[in-house]
Amino acid sequence: MYNSKIIGLGKYVPDHVVTNDDLSKMMDTSDEWIQERTGIIERRWIKEGSEDTSAVMGAKAARIAIERSGVTKDDIDFIVFATLSPDYYFPGCGVQIQDLLDVPTVGALDVRNQCSGFVYAVAVADQFIKTGMYKNVLVIGAEYHSGGLEKTTRGRGVTVIFGDGAGAAVLSRTEDRTRGILSSHLHSEGKYAEELMVAGPSIKHWVPEILEANDPNDTSYYPYMNGTFVFKHAVVRFSEAIVEGLEANNLKKEDIDMLIPHQANLRISQFIQKKFRLRDDQVYNNIQKYGNTTAASVIIALTEAWEEGKINEGDNVVLAAFGSGFTWGSVIIKW
Ligand code: ACO
Repeated sequence: MYNSKIIGLGKYVPDHVVTNDDLSKMMDTSDEWIQERTGIIERRWIKEGSEDTSAVMGAKAARIAIERSGVTKDDIDFIVFATLSPDYYFPGCGVQIQDLLDVPTVGALDVRNQCSGFVYAVAVADQFIKTGMYKNVLVIGAEYHSGGLEKTTRGRGVTVIFGDGAGAAVLSRTEDRTRGILSSHLHSEGKYAEELMVAGPSIKHWVPEILEANDPNDTSYYPYMNGTFVFKHAVVRFSEAIVEGLEANNLKKEDIDMLIPHQANLRISQFIQKKFRLRDDQVYNNIQKYGNTTAASVIIALTEAWEEGKINEGDNVVLAAFGSGFTWGSVIIKW
């Protein structure tokens, strides 16, 4: 048995900044409302005509992560790609990464766990490494939300929250079982699938049916979120996942050097921080700049925290996420 260790991190966000004031020109909203409810000041949205997609942004982040890792693309044994906004209905973005990065014809797996996607993807990669099956696994989280949002007053409850971006990590085998990914903890509760979803097009509600009905009230192909309900579950499940991870490793909350929560809403992160009595330097947030980038959010935040020198050798790093499914989980890392 081995452990897996993160040896390279990278991120990419589109250049195009969309402020809250920009949004208030498209819909009935305000900088004040968005900041007060979510903490978001601006987000990045792919500009029309840009080459960026979830796969392309993922590849850009991955190139940086591989460069920093010290291994080459030819050393990658497996790819895990997390997104809810893939370039195609099928195949998933994982195979596009194999091609875009010219990685040898290794396996590529897509993870569909929305905001928990990166936590799930790391857990999957870690299992392949722990068993000895693979040595170097490339894990990517990327989202192209802006193309699928309803940018009108009707869509404002969801649209103001989401941003585009990507992050990537190279996980590699280590024989030091006291370091790297110590444990991962995954959960789901499918009875709430319809509280946060995109219902169509799907096999149950397919394109010809949507076109034929031509119903202006059909919003099934835009994200639906029962925001208050999701918020209430998020604060409970985030806390449970963090406690579960700490207890599994005989750690106390004081032992957390850096908590990277999924950037769902700054108010959720602040609630968790207060509940666990963590200092500001123990929790990393960047939702103010990027909004909620779903499967990309944890890896973008982890990359930035590391780039800013806030994560050091020997630190206890906790990743935690909650989102559509519902799904949630945590990963405990000894850096
Ligand atoms: N601008 C102005 N007013 C708005 C906007 C907006 N952008 N959006 C909604 N409103 C209005 C509503 O219409 C409503 O008006 P009403 O009282 O006249 O009916 C009022 O503001 C309050 O709306 P709520 O939806 O109750 O607002 P809430 O305080 O719950 O905040 C929010 C909404 C920010 C979405 C919050 O519920 C939230 O963050 N939920 C959790 C999100 C989350 O964690 N998601 C999980 C990850 S995402 C994933 O997995 C894909």
